[in-house]
Amino acid sequence: MRTLIHSIKKLIQVEERPRQWVAGRDMASLNCIDNAYIVLNDSIIEDFGPMGQMPAAIEGPVERIDASGRMVMPAFCDSHTHLVYAGSREVEYIDKIRGLSYEEIAKRGGGILNSAKLLAQTSEDELYEQALARTYEIMGRGTGAVEIKSGYGLDLENELKMLRVIRRLQQTSPLTIKATFLPAHALPAEFKGRQTDYVDLIINEMIPVVAAEGLADYLDVFCDRGFFTVEDTERMLMAGMKHGLRPKIHANELDFSGGVQVGVKYNALSVDHLEFIGPDEISALSGSETMPTVLPGAAFFLGMRETPVRQMIEAGLPIALASDYNPGSSPSGDMRFVISLACIKYRMLPEEAINATTINSAYAMGISDTHGSICRGKVANLIITKPLPSVEFIPYAYTSNIVDTLLLNGRAAAGERLIRN
Ligand code: NIG
Ligand code: FE
Repeated sequence: MRTLIHSIKKLIQVEERPRQWVAGRDMASLNCIDNAYIVLNDSIIEDFGPMGQMPAAIEGPVERIDASGRMVMPAFCDSHTHLVYAGSREVEYIDKIRGLSYEEIAKRGGGILNSAKLLAQTSEDELYEQALARTYEIMGRGTGAVEIKSGYGLDLENELKMLRVIRRLQQTSPLTIKATFLPAHALPAEFKGRQTDYVDLIINEMIPVVAAEGLADYLDVFCDRGFFTVEDTERMLMAGMKHGLRPKIHANELDFSGGVQVGVKYNALSVDHLEFIGPDEISALSGSETMPTVLPGAAFFLGMRETPVRQMIEAGLPIALASDYNPGSSPSGDMRFVISLACIKYRMLPEEAINATTINSAYAMGISDTHGSICRGKVANLIITKPLPSVEFIPYAYTSNIVDTLLLNGRAAAGERLIRN
């Protein structure tokens, strides 16, 4: 069955030839076609172009969608989330407003370890239901592909529970989902003072089981001050790579931790957070295959310093943006808000922010061959927007939902209405 979307005001992020990512100055340009059509063949983008070149007839049954006044763009790819978690942590949020320190907050019910405690008490079915609700929420905001990490289990049984929930979401949701194993998210309380023992457990017992069960695509480590060291990280990344898990790491959120350099050394698909970036980090990333990924929602929520994105783009680097959806530092998976924050706080141009949330974030989760742009042969994951005056309106009207309809694999997956004729 074919779908023809016609009279599109602007078709955004089109590619004649697929690219892996967009870097440096090129990030400021976005290929668009005004007054356009697009044809989908089931779940795949078959053709597109200006209305003047729309074929007079299309073979077989066709569903027609009139997109007058609306724009069509690739669905967002959110390459960094922790959206499988139990409960929420607003107690900690209020404590932070009151000015409590991290240690005080941890004692009163905050922090990763408290999410881990709650997760251990939550059944797999309940965890799945909570995460499923979050997937509907982000689809309503235009996300079509998402990477989800474990990391609130912190022991084999509970990490496997989280990864099985991610697998169940992969089987039941129209979202494209990648799974990342993050056992080194925090040191479990019972390993206090014995960090090397926990790293040994990850290497010798956890990674082999997760890999054998095929539950993860990538391996993540929180390589930062007060969490895991560069030496710990190297050992875990090597073990993961032996089992076919490519690194994708949390780095340089709290300090110049060496996380970026170790990520690049082990050919990480991405290094994420990056509040602490200087000339050494920029030169390590230059010429590498590692996507620098910025998480503006987490920096905003925690009041952290901002990544020097302009310097990085001027140095010729690509940038991806992701939500970091999690209960502690970013209780939101709204990629449109991420775009607005990137423009307002990091001085990214709207075109740069859209490249960073589509093609570049697709690369950062290993799917830029099939997602992240409007290209013949790619998966038809598309946002049909509400009527919009311009592309720039997308970051500008920073709380309006721009999504009229989200098509995933060529089918309506979320949205208020479809206008057909
Ligand atoms: O990406 N930085 C490490 N981990 C998460 C926070 C998770 C939490 O606080 O629950 C992050 O921001
Ligand atoms: Fe994170």
